[in-house]
Amino acid sequence: MDQRIYKSVIAFVLFLVFPFLFYELGDAPHRTPLKETISLITLLAFFGLLLQFYLSRANQTALKGWKMGRIVKWHKVLGYLFIGILLIHPFLLVVPRYFEGGVAPSDALTLILTTGSKGIITGIIAWLLMIMLGITSLLRKKLHLSYKSWRVLHGILSIVFIILASVHVIKTGRHISTPMAGLIALLAGTGILFLLKTYLYNPIQKPAACKDDEASM
Ligand code: HEM
Ligand code: HEM
Repeated sequence: MDQRIYKSVIAFVLFLVFPFLFYELGDAPHRTPLKETISLITLLAFFGLLLQFYLSRANQTALKGWKMGRIVKWHKVLGYLFIGILLIHPFLLVVPRYFEGGVAPSDALTLILTTGSKGIITGIIAWLLMIMLGITSLLRKKLHLSYKSWRVLHGILSIVFIILASVHVIKTGRHISTPMAGLIALLAGTGILFLLKTYLYNPIQKPAACKDDEASM
C-alpha cells in the first residue's frame, strides 16, 4: 500500500482518535452538552496546532512523497483555522454563563484572568504568542525580513508558544488524564526536537514552493 496512506492513518490516530478516546474514557464528570462541545472543540483545536509541527519541513523525512507546496498550503489553512478557534476560547469558556443564573459572563472571565495561577498565566502568554504567530504570518511580506529570518522567527515563536500552551492545557484542562498529558508531551517534545534537528543539520534554504506561498500570503 502507498506509504502515504499509512502515514495519514498514523497522523489521524495520533491527533484525532487518541485525543477523542482519552477525552471519552477520562473520568472528568460530564457537564451540559454545550460545555462538553466547547471543551472538545478546544482540545481538538489544540491538537491541530501540535500537528502544525508535523506539517512543516521539521517533519521532512516523513513528508517524503508529498508535494511540499501542498503541505504548506494545509499548514496555513489549518494554522489560521485553529488559531481562530483558540483565540475565542477564553470567551467561549464563559458563554454557558449566559444560560445560567449566578455570576455574569464578564465577571466570570475577570475572575479567571485574575486567578494568578501558573496554569492561567501560561495560557495568557501562550494566547499572546499565538496572536503574534498569526499576525507575523499574515503580514510576512510587510515585515521586511528575509524568508530565512522570518522562518526562524516563526519557528522560535512556535516552540515557545507550544511549550507554554502545553503547560497551560496540562495544568488547567479538566479532561487531562495521564495518557492525554503523555500524548501532549510526546507530540510537543518530538515536534520541537524535529525542528531543532532541522536547524542544526539542514540550514534553511528558500524552497521553490514558497514563491507561490508569498504570492498567496
Ligand atoms: C497562522 C498561520 C500560519 C501560517 C500562514 C504559517 C506559515 C508557515 C510557512 C509558510 C512555513 C514555512 C514552510 C516551510 O518552508 O517548510 C511555516 C513553517 C512552520 N510553521 Fe507555520 N504557519 C502558521 C501557523 C503556525 C502555527 C500555529 C505553528 C505552531 C503551533 C506553526 C509552526 C511552524 C513550524 C514549526 C514551522 C517550521 C519552521 C521552519 O522550518 O523553520 N505555524 N509556517
Ligand atoms: C487568555 C488566555 C487563556 C485563558 C484565560 C484560558 C483559560 C482556560 C481555563 C480556565 C481552562 C479550564 C477550562 C475548564 O475547566 O473547563 C482552560 C482549558 C484549556 N485551554 Fe485555555 N486559556 C487561555 C489560553 C489558551 C490557549 C492559547 C490555548 C491553546 C493554544 C488553550 C487551550 C486550552 C485547552 C486545550 C484546554 C483544555 C480543555 C479541557 O480539558 O476541557 N487555552 N483554559
